[in-house]
This record gives sequence, structure tokens and C-alpha cells, in this order.
Amino acid sequence: MARIVVTGGAGFIGAHLTDRLISDGHEVIVIDNLSTGLRSNLNPLALFIEGNVAEKKVVSDIPAEGVSAVFHLAAQSSGEASFNNPYNDLQSNVAGTILMLQWSKANHIRNFVYTSSMAVYGKTSDFPLTENTPCLPTSFYGVAKLSSEHYIRLYAAQGLQTTIIRPFSVYGSRQNLENMKQGMASIYLAYILRGEPVTVKGSPDRFRDQTHVADVVDAMVGCLDNPAAISGTFNIATGRKTTVGELLSELLHATGQPANYPITYEAGTPGDVFGCYADINKANRLLGWTPRVSLSAGLAEMYNYFATEKCQ
Ligand SMILES: NC(=O)c1ccc[n+]([C@@H]2O[C@H](COP(=O)([O-])OP(=O)(O)OC[C@H]3O[C@@H](n4cnc5c(N)ncnc54)[C@H](O)[C@@H]3O)[C@@H](O)[C@H]2O)c1
Repeated sequence: MARIVVTGGAGFIGAHLTDRLISDGHEVIVIDNLSTGLRSNLNPLALFIEGNVAEKKVVSDIPAEGVSAVFHLAAQSSGEASFNNPYNDLQSNVAGTILMLQWSKANHIRNFVYTSSMAVYGKTSDFPLTENTPCLPTSFYGVAKLSSEHYIRLYAAQGLQTTIIRPFSVYGSRQNLENMKQGMASIYLAYILRGEPVTVKGSPDRFRDQTHVADVVDAMVGCLDNPAAISGTFNIATGRKTTVGELLSELLHATGQPANYPITYEAGTPGDVFGCYADINKANRLLGWTPRVSLSAGLAEMYNYFATEKCQ
């Protein structure tokens, strides 16, 4: 059993990760400012500290005794929102990462696992994307994630044991359906659950690698005390290309809606890339990790969760 800090533990991925760590017998300290996270996502068995990881006092006050690992997920998590306020994005995503790195180094943390993003790759047509594909981010969010990766590289050179994961388009239960600036499946599902036409920003031919949150959590947990993960950067995805049009028809099927459900198309959002999907061989080879949830099963799970929640 270990004592583990999860920043962003009230968020979508962080809540799933916290639950998994606690059910595996670990003790978890969650730091979150609830900017996009939900109080209802918090695991009651976790110690919750409400605060901003970009504030020195908040980070220096994190109880360090016995902590062996940090999963750093707290972030302004939307590419679109990063254009409205690049300074806020920089604070949350870079300053917050630097403070968590400093804290982890000072407290001799054994594992620092950073949740970066597919957004670091940006504009490329070199598919599938490997971890060696050159990065040219097209959003301030992607710039901040890539910048954080560089800070992590330099802290690793100073002896901190770090791992970077780059998840691709994560979806699943407990995503914040009020947040219409992050997620694809979650945004489209939010429209369907409200009985409104789905508004799609950009072409239905765009494509992504849709990854279920349970697979992301499996990969993260697999980095704990794993020598093969140290100093590594790993794509976490399915390796499958799904167009927006395919995602919509799978989602309509999962939610029991007709194939001719109203869908309107608008201009794309700034910084949005046309397509991306990953080569996941590195995580498979070195971490022994493999994604297990199919898109149809994952969307069914997601829909059932929200449909049940709505009825309560
Ligand atoms: N969801 C995806 O598709 C996806 C893909 C790639 C990477 N990621 C990354 O994974 C991580 C988790 O994303 P998510 O989808 O769960 O998003 P999320 O917005 O649900 O979670 C982020 C959490 O961090 C908290 N937070 C934000 N800024 C903070 C700050 N300055 N101090 C403390 N807490 C702060 C939010 O309140 C929220 O609970 C993020 O780093 C995100 O960039 C997500």
C-alpha cells in the first residue's frame, strides 16, 4: 500500500484513477480547485485539498509524509478554452506542473506520472503518431503540455523518476457534461440527453483515436513502481482511427436514437487538428498494456451511466 497524490482528482480521469487506486488499497490525497472538476466525483475515502496547483502556498502545504507517487492531472483541459485565456492556461498547465515537480523532487517522490496529451503533436499527417513524431502543437493548451514535458525532462535529468503519458480523446462515465468545450463524445452526448440537435464544430470527416477512460487508468496504474516506465513517454490510445461521423453513428446507436437524429455543422474551433490517431506499440511493449474497451461497449457504458444518473 502506498500514499499517492492525485492532482485533478475531482476531474473526469482523476476521479476514475482515484477510485482505482483506493480500491487497490492505496491512500490518496486529491488536490483540485474544482474549476472543471465536480465535488460529486470526489472519493469520500480520499483526503481532499481544495486549491490551485499553480499557487505556491497550496503546493507547499500538501502533506508529504509517506507519499511515494504523484499523478499530476490538474490542468485547464480544453484546447478551445486555451484560446480564450492563454495566460490562465499557462498558469494552470505550466506553472502548476513546475510547482508539482519542485515539490516532488524536494520530497523524494519515487514516481511522478504526468498526464500530457495528444495535443502536443498538433499539425501533422504522419499517421499513426509515434512518440517520436515531431511535435508542432496548434493550441496554447498543446504548447503548455509540450512545455511541461520539457520541464519534466529536465527534472528527470536531475534524478526525479518521471513518466509522461499522452492520452488520445478520452471518453467515459463521469465526464462533465456541462463542459461544452472539452471532449467529443461527452459534448455530443450532452446534446442528445437534453433532446437537442447535436452541434458539431468542424467536419464529420475529421478523425480521432477514441479511448475509454478505463484503459487510460489501467495504463496509469501500470506505471507505478514499473522500471520500464521510468523516463518514458507513452501514447495511450487504441490505435484505431474513428471519424466524427462514425463516432456520431455509434453514439446514436448506443443511445437508442434514430440514425437521422438532427445534427448541425458549424465552423471548427481554433487550433483543432483535422485528424490524429496513435501508434500504441511502445506502451504495449514496455508497459505490457493493451486497451480493452471497444468503442461500442465504451459508449454504451457511458450512456448507461448518464441515463441512470438523470433518472435519480
Ligand atoms: N479527456 C481527454 O480527452 C484528455 C486527453 C488527453 C489529456 N488529458 C489530460 O488529462 C488530465 C485530466 O483531464 P480530464 O479529461 O479529466 O479533465 P477535467 O477537466 O475533468 O480534469 C481536470 C481537473 O483539474 C482540475 N484543475 C484544473 N486546473 C487546476 C488547478 N490550477 N489547480 C488544481 N486543480 C485544477 C479541474 O477542476 C479538474 O477537476 C488533464 O491534464 C488533461 O489535459 C485529457
